[in-house]
Amino acid sequence: MCGIFGTIGKRDNALSLVVEGLKKLEYRGYDSWGVTADVDGELFIDKHVGKISTVGTSRFEGIKSNMAVGHSRWATHGGVTDINAHPHFSHDRKVAVVHNGIIENYHEIREELGRDKFISETDTEVIPQLISHYLKTMEFKEAVLEATRRLKGRYAIVALHVGDHQLIAARRGSPLIVGVGNGEYFLASDIPAFLEYTQDVMYLNDNEMVVVNDHVEFINIETGELVEKRLINIDWKAESAEKGEYDHYMLKEIMEQKDTIHRAINQDSEEIMEIVKAIQAARGCFFSGCGTAGKVCMVGEYFFSIVADRHVNYAPASEFPIYHHFLKPESLLVVVSQSGETADVLEAMEVAKKKGTKVLSLINVGSSTIARQSDYSLLINAGPEKAVASTKAATSQMALLLLIAYAVNGELQEGRRVLAEVAGKINDMLNPRFLNYIKSVAEAIQKHENAYIIGKAQNYPIALEAAIKIQEVSYVHAEGFAAGELKHGPIALVTEGTPCISLIANDEVKDDILNNTIELKARGAHIIGIAPEKHEVFDDWIKVPDVGVASPLVNIIPIQLLAYYISICRGLDPDMPRNLAKSVTVK
Ligand code: G6P
Repeated sequence: MCGIFGTIGKRDNALSLVVEGLKKLEYRGYDSWGVTADVDGELFIDKHVGKISTVGTSRFEGIKSNMAVGHSRWATHGGVTDINAHPHFSHDRKVAVVHNGIIENYHEIREELGRDKFISETDTEVIPQLISHYLKTMEFKEAVLEATRRLKGRYAIVALHVGDHQLIAARRGSPLIVGVGNGEYFLASDIPAFLEYTQDVMYLNDNEMVVVNDHVEFINIETGELVEKRLINIDWKAESAEKGEYDHYMLKEIMEQKDTIHRAINQDSEEIMEIVKAIQAARGCFFSGCGTAGKVCMVGEYFFSIVADRHVNYAPASEFPIYHHFLKPESLLVVVSQSGETADVLEAMEVAKKKGTKVLSLINVGSSTIARQSDYSLLINAGPEKAVASTKAATSQMALLLLIAYAVNGELQEGRRVLAEVAGKINDMLNPRFLNYIKSVAEAIQKHENAYIIGKAQNYPIALEAAIKIQEVSYVHAEGFAAGELKHGPIALVTEGTPCISLIANDEVKDDILNNTIELKARGAHIIGIAPEKHEVFDDWIKVPDVGVASPLVNIIPIQLLAYYISICRGLDPDMPRNLAKSVTVK
């Protein structure tokens, strides 16, 4: 949520570098953008409503500076206006700050510093004003240290002071990474922003500050003491974070599912067995995540019941804290998160840790805060996922949960065999004929304002996930239901021609869901059946392979494609849906 990028070093086109870096972080927020630099001892600021991707490469040509900072915003406090866009600056225009997070005590600080000094409606503006206030009696480094000690809430910030050749960054709860190049440094919310310049990084932990000039110095904000850091090499390739031959990241990431399941299940057996032991020893196992990752957890609940005969409890991470009553040192919390930075998940972990409960995480970004704060962590290895709508990460997470369920049941090898077969079948599915057929179904759905999806057993959470996918990228009002719940209310919504998607597998609940589908048809619904076998009730049949218990992994693929093509048919940008952001680092 909000992208931050800053650089300092050998190049004098820092502003252009920042713009290009921010474009790679735009998935984090895209309602407005802004950049700042020290240009000949004056604070240069350019900020606007709109997407950074529309900013031309030549905009800052000729403006020389080797230190600049920028921001791509997802509004929290204050509407989407040029003034509320970051960077924010002090009254005397000497200090500029970009920020990701929420400052909870901004009101109190603003009153203290004098309301009339403030020009925006944001919480962020208190930070440069506070630094500027401390600068009256202190050096820049001490002033930032003092200012951060006053802030309550979550933040990742980068501050620049004219005339001081250094950038100072600090974090608590929101991500910020230092990229270490050859004679240059980068500060970014996420790694893809600087991958083309360096794969070497240093992590800033919560309550730490970093001063960057011709070297880096990490400081513990509370104690003021220096902190030692290791240089870590990230093995992501710059190209893997680019769109390549595809028009959109979403389609690229859907197609990558040909390979990503293989990578997810290719885990070290010893690590899996260590996790299996933790699950078997646990008295009370909870799954938690947000959005798509939360729906994956629900699928995992079914996998554990069907394959491992084990009961786990799912709660969305935002609801999890209330379960603290049930947490004990013998409980286990399993969190699922693509980014590894989601604020609600971090809070769920905090609650668990306070009770002595151990945390296992399934994560895509190994360097993320959640991965680093977990007792056990497994990487899903899906590679960078940039489209806001999660696709390949979700199938990899499901694959790994299914593999773990098999391992808990003493059948790790069988799990690998089942999933390798699924991966092969997904590879076969994603062919041009399949894509074209789904496109034709999407063309018909896009004319409607409502669509409903039903599923049963492990395909019930897929119905919920299908609704999220369609809502977020196409803005069609889609809702997912447990098939058996239809007759208790939702069926009243169905009228002649309403598109209804039925997610079917060759399993013990097949006949039940087919009956529910027939009930929908009797009320005039247009039935799109996603199933291994044809049935007369389907108006459109999307054939998926029969993969037994793993059916959610194949049933979700046509849904992802449908959502993508509905969005395209409606002339929308599926990679950047309105009001959303990829990484939600605020509660
Ligand atoms: C946002 C994204 C979703 C994602 C959710 C959880 O809402 O738009 O695609 O599922 O956050 O993110 P995480 O990184 O924790 O999986």
